[in-house]
Amino acid sequence: MEIKVIEGDICKIATSALVVNLFEGVAIPGGATGAVDKALNNQISDVIKSGRFTGKLNKVLIFNPKSDFSAKYIVIVGLGKKEEFNLDKIRQVSGLAAVQIREAGIKDFVTIIHGAGIGGFDIKEAASALTEGTLLALYKFDRYKTQEKKEIKAIDKFTIVERDKDKIKLIKDAVSKTKIITDEVNFARDLTNLPANELNPSIFAKEAKRKAKELNLQCEILEKEDMEKLGFGALLAVAQGSCQEPKFITLKYQGSKENPVVLIGKGITFDSGGISLKPSNKMDEMKGDMAGAAAVLGSICAVAKLKLPVNLVVMMPLTENMPGGKATKPGDIVKSLSGKYIEIVNTDAEGRLILADALTWAAKLKPKAVIDVATLTGACVVALGNVAAGLLGTDKNLVNKIKTSADKTAEKIWELPLWEEYDELIKSDVADIKNVGDGTAGTITGAMFLRKFVGDLPWAHLDIAGVAWISKGKPYTPKGGTGFGVRLLVQLMKDLSLSS
Ligand code: BES
Ligand code: ZN
Ligand code: ZN
Repeated sequence: MEIKVIEGDICKIATSALVVNLFEGVAIPGGATGAVDKALNNQISDVIKSGRFTGKLNKVLIFNPKSDFSAKYIVIVGLGKKEEFNLDKIRQVSGLAAVQIREAGIKDFVTIIHGAGIGGFDIKEAASALTEGTLLALYKFDRYKTQEKKEIKAIDKFTIVERDKDKIKLIKDAVSKTKIITDEVNFARDLTNLPANELNPSIFAKEAKRKAKELNLQCEILEKEDMEKLGFGALLAVAQGSCQEPKFITLKYQGSKENPVVLIGKGITFDSGGISLKPSNKMDEMKGDMAGAAAVLGSICAVAKLKLPVNLVVMMPLTENMPGGKATKPGDIVKSLSGKYIEIVNTDAEGRLILADALTWAAKLKPKAVIDVATLTGACVVALGNVAAGLLGTDKNLVNKIKTSADKTAEKIWELPLWEEYDELIKSDVADIKNVGDGTAGTITGAMFLRKFVGDLPWAHLDIAGVAWISKGKPYTPKGGTGFGVRLLVQLMKDLSLSS
């Protein structure tokens, strides 16, 4: 995808489609849309008068100019009510317009920056949101659709036009920085969408190694034998039911001399539930149970490309959860890396087992903060749906920083408590701790379990079970793997670097 930023008059640039916008309730457009309206002899005002377009949020209308004009099609997007407009709506309208243009079979377009004129937004922020919405919305996972390849529609190029020469450099900079991040979101989506036969722990490790080489990141991979020697008993208990070898990947980017922030991503490349087998309905979606690992991998790549002044380490415990002959059985007791014995009452609560060892391993680096990202509980989907991720943490300051960063990227998160009363639920009769509660407060008990392995490090946990995979698309998030967390974590790393 080629993105151009040019100085010019939108009424004079030859293109397949020109994208303009309108706030709801406006009868006679102003600004750039107004200029196009005049050049078209009031064709846009006429469309508004006829009631075919009212400016309602996320409505898109594509039509041919009547008179001779530099664009073959005019695309008008509704920005909704002016008083309700915000940056995320720029992402949404940009994404929806781009997808409709693509689906109309058009290959390139020229756009104004929504929200920068009458909307009153800072030009850099608006240009970033436009680019972000467009590149995220146009994502498609079609690498296995070889037969229909010729019919697959795609946009090859889009051009952002700005009248003011002084703003061009700012916009170009915003576009290139945003593209770095959306590339990594789309990379995380690819990993999440890949089926488990095409992305097992070994293939994931190869991908991580390739990325590390490309970006000069330090890369360490623990093999099964290493983990056996070191005592990763909880992770190995999950892995033993599968024929695929587990991997424990650590990547490091050192952009500052401070103690590192460690991000840990759950990397179950397929979660069958193990002996506590899941029902077959939607079990295929459990190929996405490594979305946490994908998100932290995408994040460190973006942070490295942006050369942020932070010290970042990401850890990805990777394994399948399968019910093979050697699989862990409900009731088994295993010794974790921390030395704590865990009673595995339900083999489907495997994420917390691999994360337990990862948290113990992370603590050795004396991190200034640890955040784990995991598709951990179905209970989180019940509580927050496909709208928001659950957030739980021991450090108020860290939790608040995550909330602030998430607000900026419009990746919704909602905090749940870690009150000690919930500890009762994971007490085992026979071991130090058990891996499930009684079915109540499932997301909290999952996090309470993890907390036992954190010590007193500042720690937060993001349960992304409901948001990492969606069955119905959103304005700039096609259905399937969403790449949730990449934008938020990169934003957090930017915010942390500014605050320290
Ligand atoms: N990977 C699942 C959680 C999940 C469910 C992710 C739905 C995405 C969508 C996790 O490993 C799991 O199976 N959790 C169990 C825990 C329970 C046994 C305590 C669950 O949520 O049912
Ligand atoms: Zn599970
Ligand atoms: Zn799982």
